[in-house]
This record gives sequence, C-alpha cells and structure tokens, in this order.
Amino acid sequence: MGEKMRLQVNIDHVATLREVRKTPYPDILAAAEECRLGGARGITVHLREDRRHIQEADVVALKKWGRLPLNLEMADSPEIVEIALQVAPDEVCIVPERRQELTTEGGLDVDSHRKSLTRTISRLHHHSIRVSLFVDPDEVQIRTAAEIGARCIELHTGNYCDAERPEIAQLELDKLKRAAQLAHERGLQVNAGHGINYANVRGILEIPHLHTLNIGHGIICRAVFVGLREAVRQMCCLIEA
Ligand code: PXP
Repeated sequence: MGEKMRLQVNIDHVATLREVRKTPYPDILAAAEECRLGGARGITVHLREDRRHIQEADVVALKKWGRLPLNLEMADSPEIVEIALQVAPDEVCIVPERRQELTTEGGLDVDSHRKSLTRTISRLHHHSIRVSLFVDPDEVQIRTAAEIGARCIELHTGNYCDAERPEIAQLELDKLKRAAQLAHERGLQVNAGHGINYANVRGILEIPHLHTLNIGHGIICRAVFVGLREAVRQMCCLIEA
C-alpha cells in the first residue's frame, strides 16, 4: 500500500470573509488549526497581487504558526517572489494571475515563460523552498516543467470539475490521467487542484500517482453548515478511503 493521499486546505476564503468587511475576524490561524484538527496535512494560501483576501501578514503568521506545512500560491512577479524568499514557506506553487479574474483561470504557460520561471525556480530552490507549477493537463507544459527544474506540478482540474456534460467530464478526466502518467514518468510529484468538491472528487481519485490535493472553495462552503473541522474531516474520509 502506498502512502495516503494528502489534503492541503486552501483557506483564502476565510480571509475573503474578513476582507469583505475589514474586520479582525475570522482568525486565519484559528482556521488553520481547525483544518489541522480535521486531518489536513498542509495549508495553502494565495497571496494575490491585489491582496483581495490573503495579506502578507497572514503568510508570515502561518509560517510562524508552523503546525502544518505551508504552500504559498503566487504569481511569478518580482514583488511576490521577494516576499516568498523572505517568508520561506515549505512550498510555492506558481500560478498565472490576472487582476480581473474571479479565481485562477487556467494553467501556466510554462513554455512561453521558460526564462523567468527557470530563474525563479532556481532562486526558490536555493532557499530550500519546494516549487510546484500549476499547469493544464498538457504534454508540452509538463515536459517543459520537468526540463526547467520543477520538482512538482499541480494539475489544473477545473475543466473536469466544471464540465456540464458527463461525456466532457470523461474526456477531461482522461486528459488528467494521461498528464499525471507523463509527469510521473518525468520524475515530477503530481498534485491536483481547482474546483474539487465532495461530489466530483470521486473522479479525481482515478488519476494515477496523485500525491496531494489542494481544495479550498468547496470545503469552505460546506464549513458554513458543518463547521470547518468537520468539512475537512469529511473530505479526508473521501480521499483517504
Ligand atoms: N490550486 C490552485 C493552483 C488554485 O489557484 C486554487 C484556487 O485558489 C486552488 C487549487 C483551489 O481551488 P478551489 O478553491 O476551487 O478548491
């Protein structure tokens, strides 16, 4: 038996609730602790350039809290890279970012940004920060990710999760399975995330070689009704079954 799949909970939307009213609550560290008690194996936050939810102080506080590994999602932009180097989270996941988007809309174009990404990956590795690249299930992107020194990819599962018709969902799932196989053959750790909820996670579990799932919105939405610890526990039960 291999190791159990890990759940990292993205708690951006706990910060969204705080920022929408500029209140001192809900407390981000209390949320992280609830995730830990529910069985999460890591905490993920996205420090966006527009700071719409997570703030730099949250990232610093989570790193200091230190009871679970911290995965920082971020754009490959000079300001944010400097912050990452200073805070030194356990892992960075580089994502594309557009100011107007509601959430991350697609994977990185690793091939087009090869030069800048190569430099950023090497700087982060130099500070012992593990680097993951958020990519679509696309052969070229995965090959390039391995070539430029990433140790890990996070497969963008949004097209599968948001598919409105079962036959489209199946096509997207097949792409994810092929992509995971290729990434594994290239020596990359395979994570996945985006749009995963309690209903569609079953398909996600068919993807081979998965190491970690990053899940945010679906868990925070369920937490409104059952509490965060219980929402995390329920997702852990599904993915560890
Ligand atoms: N992984 C990445 C790279 C993301 O950008 C996001 C959204 O911030 C997630 C996972 C989590 O997605 P969701 O909130 O839809 O679960």
